[in-house]
Amino acid sequence: MSEPLRVLFVDDSEEDVFFLLRELKKGGFEPHHKRVDDAASLRTLLQSEEWQIVISDFHMPDFDGLMALQIFKETGRDIPFILVSAIVGEETAVLAMKQGAHDYIMKRNLARLVPVVQRELREAEMRGQQRRAQLALQQREEQLRQSQKMEAIGRLAAGTAHDFKNVLAVILGHSELLMREKDFNAAQRAKIEKIQHAADQARTLLVQLLAFSRKQELNPQPLNLSTTVSAMKPMLEPMLGSSIQFVVLPEPDVGLCEVDANSIEQVIINLVINARDAMPNGGTVTVGTANLAITPENATHHDGLPHGDYILLTVTDSGTGMTEETRQHLFEPFFTTKEPGKGTGLGLSTCYGTIHQSGGHIVVHSELGKGSSFRIYLPRLPGRELQRETSEAARHINDLELVT
Ligand SMILES: Nc1ncnc2c1ncn2[C@@H]1O[C@H](COP(=O)(O)OP(=O)(O)OP(=O)(O)O)[C@@H](O)[C@H]1O
Ligand SMILES: [Mg+2]
Repeated sequence: MSEPLRVLFVDDSEEDVFFLLRELKKGGFEPHHKRVDDAASLRTLLQSEEWQIVISDFHMPDFDGLMALQIFKETGRDIPFILVSAIVGEETAVLAMKQGAHDYIMKRNLARLVPVVQRELREAEMRGQQRRAQLALQQREEQLRQSQKMEAIGRLAAGTAHDFKNVLAVILGHSELLMREKDFNAAQRAKIEKIQHAADQARTLLVQLLAFSRKQELNPQPLNLSTTVSAMKPMLEPMLGSSIQFVVLPEPDVGLCEVDANSIEQVIINLVINARDAMPNGGTVTVGTANLAITPENATHHDGLPHGDYILLTVTDSGTGMTEETRQHLFEPFFTTKEPGKGTGLGLSTCYGTIHQSGGHIVVHSELGKGSSFRIYLPRLPGRELQRETSEAARHINDLELVT
């Protein structure tokens, strides 16, 4: 059984490549290759295609192995880079290794090629595994830190809301009693109404704070989120204005999740309004749903969330994106970057509370100037076998899936 190998040759000679390929085939590889012999094509191919190894000639008419190595390093690929040459002085070879080449091979000793390739592929695989393990660990630490912070803020909010509730009950109750008295004139009544109105506004804030601290009353029911987002389209579109394109991509065969219908609609409205506000010069907002199975293999693409079957709801915009500072704080109550009077900073904290109270997760991926993508993961109710598959839509979701 030969082992497929995607190899990029940097070589001006078709003939030399032929000999290298022959050697690789003899050693049990089935190479799929391309050949380049200038800087621009090397850079393009390294960036646009997946390779397992680069094998570079040393002397070429307009290019050399060290320049190729420099470009290779700039693209940040962690795959083996091997130099091949007819004549390499010891000093040049040492220099090449110092600059990051993994090995060098003399053309008259091509028998070394296969063992070197095998060893370097093994080592690259090990480096990859270490990197993935490190990333998973970092994600878990970040998650723990974030959830402890939100837990602490949640307790504070719940305590404040509780005291607030009692104070408001006194204000509203007594102004109601006052209103019933007959001796007040119209001007005095107007003043009492103002008190009642302000207290009502405070009550709205209180409801949002309770939502954040996961203490709202929810009525979870099995729900098909594709139906929900499709049904909301006519209501959301007019809120966006003509410069914003609104795209809904519902997964037709989406599974069910158990959530409170009104609250999840509120979550979608909040996210879509935020997306609109982030696109003052127009753009695209996309709302999509998908079936997704988080497994040990793909967990790092999903912020290291617990493994299991989910319904994924995404709201993606092509707006301003956000700074790291904003990203760190955006789910906290009263965090807003909007001018006074434009936003209270409670939109995303209520989303956070609703989703967590429903057993789900909400995460954001964003890049300044490129846009933001909010992803909501809700546990999928066990159901038809078909839904156990990760749907096509979810498979295409990358780390940052932005509309450009
Ligand atoms: N899609 C987005 N793109 C860029 N920044 C965003 C996006 N969504 C949220 N933000 C940032 O997160 C902050 C908090 O959002 P949140 O919805 O909680 O509050 P708000 O929109 O400022 O006010 P409110 O929703 O209470 O009216 C925003 O002020 C903004 O800085
Ligand atoms: Mg908002």
